[in-house]
Amino acid sequence: MTDYRTLRVALLGAGAVGSQVADLLLKHRAELADRAGANLELAGIAVRNVDGKRDTELPRELFTTDAETLINGSDIVIELMGGIEPARTQVLQAINSGADVVTANKALLATHGSEIFEAADQVGAEVYYEAAAAGAIPIIRPLRDSLAGDRVVRIMGIVNGTTNYILDRMDTEGADFGDVLAQAQALGYAEADPTADVEGYDAAQKAAILASLAFHTTVPLDAVHREGITQIDAAIIESARHAGYVVKLLAVCERLPAADGEATESISVRVYPALVERTHPLASVHGANNAVFVQAEAAGDLMFYGAGAGGVQTASAVLGDVVSAARRHIAGGVGVGESTRANLPTVPIGRVITRYQITLEVDDQPGVLATVAGILSEGRVSIATVEQTTIEPDAENPAAGGSARLVIGTHQAREQDLSETVERLAASGVVERVVSVLRVEGN
Ligand code: NDP
Ligand code: HSE
Repeated sequence: MTDYRTLRVALLGAGAVGSQVADLLLKHRAELADRAGANLELAGIAVRNVDGKRDTELPRELFTTDAETLINGSDIVIELMGGIEPARTQVLQAINSGADVVTANKALLATHGSEIFEAADQVGAEVYYEAAAAGAIPIIRPLRDSLAGDRVVRIMGIVNGTTNYILDRMDTEGADFGDVLAQAQALGYAEADPTADVEGYDAAQKAAILASLAFHTTVPLDAVHREGITQIDAAIIESARHAGYVVKLLAVCERLPAADGEATESISVRVYPALVERTHPLASVHGANNAVFVQAEAAGDLMFYGAGAGGVQTASAVLGDVVSAARRHIAGGVGVGESTRANLPTVPIGRVITRYQITLEVDDQPGVLATVAGILSEGRVSIATVEQTTIEPDAENPAAGGSARLVIGTHQAREQDLSETVERLAASGVVERVVSVLRVEGN
């Protein structure tokens, strides 16, 4: 057996992901040593409750509540606690004590990434975070290394497993939102506070991380436009299906050309539920899987697909980082810092151009369609398709006038124009209710 140098590995957190990482580190010790060129000694596991139930069988003596002591003297610190504090303080402690850090914590990186990367630069350490975006899918390394010689134009993807699991089950089985969310929690996909998933915060954090890497720019979380899926109900799913679409929570990061009077290109980073044509590859991303399309100037279109959440799946990405960190430790030299050289401005959502589907309930009277078309035309929103269906009169109130449902598909329009137009439609007197306005993405 090769006589490798031993590296001390500290693990912070033994929940859905951490317990699997610890298990694999112990189980595959010999193989990992050969790949890393070092023995990876799991020195301890910091948790809140040392007697808590774990998903894998782990030696009781490894557990501690004293993360600070565990971190000191470690070569590699794996942070899998989640949340901001104490994760931030302990990651900084690890860096300042000379350790490399591996983390899956997108909330931390999206809010304190600059501080953490700067601290690592100062001491020549490296922060690895492959698992922080899209779970088991290798996407950070391709963006940072494989595409380092190219220019990324657009990233579009499903980057949250919990919401994809919920939307998919609603679409394929007519499942209830609340029931499926509880199942996603039980399966270990959801964040400790699942609001982060269903309100789009988790996807926005990942979008900020991906856009920062792809566009060599620090994208602050508050520059990411975010909408969640809590407004998506069975009626919207059904209406999408009728029109040949499926609803997906998408993260879109794109490079925009410099507009008149602007000195530089800019970027748009946004997360929202959108309609995707059923024939599009993203429509067949089921369960907690994720998929990320990357469009680069020279490489063209690339697609990354796989498990976006789940303890053991995410542990694979974490362990890949641990092996990289170990190799770097053994080879020596300074860590590779984050590139923020382009420093592009992020535009507000109003500048975005995409297609829309607007669903309205209107008076079923002569001239109503013409009024609606007129308002859209005045607002520079061009109609691509219209479908009208009659709404059955209310049996308890037959005197009330008839109503119709209009589903309008638009050509590409500017978000600002579209939202002002929808406001004018709502106030027009012929529109009884704006049922939904959804972007159409995927072409
Ligand atoms: P869990 O909530 O399942 O586990 C968190 C672990 O951290 C627990 O062991 C907990 O200890 C420990 N912990 C929490 N707070 C403290 C604290 N203050 N001091 C010491 N220990 C603490 O989280 P996950 O494993 O699901 O997620 C971990 C990270 O990985 C998060 O950043 C998450 O966003 C990310 N991630 C998760 C994925 C998933 O599918 N679950 C996928 C990709 C990334 P105790 O057990 O004693 O309570
Ligand atoms: N809660 C996250 C998700 C975990 O559902 O995608 C993976 O980052």
